[in-house]
Amino acid sequence: MTIEKTLGLIKPDGLERGKQGVVIDRLLKSGFKITAMKQLRLTRAQAEAFYAEHSARPFFGPLCSYMTSGPIIAMTLEKENGVADWRKMMGATNPEKADPGTIRRDLAVDMEKNTVHGSDSPQSAAREVPFFFNNLEF
Ligand code: RTP
Ligand code: MG
Repeated sequence: MTIEKTLGLIKPDGLERGKQGVVIDRLLKSGFKITAMKQLRLTRAQAEAFYAEHSARPFFGPLCSYMTSGPIIAMTLEKENGVADWRKMMGATNPEKADPGTIRRDLAVDMEKNTVHGSDSPQSAAREVPFFFNNLEF
């Protein structure tokens, strides 16, 4: 199997509640290499561009408000089967439906404040990694 790159975000609720360390620790213990990482705060326009695929959804406005409500951490993650493995570690979007042992089940607050983001396919990863990092940063 080949090494895959994927994008990981620790969302505002994760930083607000000091969960950065736990998320990073779980990633490293699961065999991920974090090949780029930075903390930043998205502008409204950046959040809208990042989540453009959801622009017609009723939760789009609140989602963009939430994602700009505080700083986030963006990471480029690398591992064999990394895209699917990171999604599996994250758990379902709704933390109440996420499997025990997943980040969202263990740490998330609710459907919106669900602590982490991960690219949902290699195609998404190919768009999302360069959204946050240029080729000098990893
Ligand atoms: P993400 O993109 O953040 O990794 O999450 P995901 O794939 O599991 O979920 P997605 O369907 O892509 O939705 C993106 C984010 O929008 C918020 N959301 N709220 N209130 C709602 O019904 C609702 N649905 C989605 C969540 O923060 C979700 O992670
Ligand atoms: Mg998604």
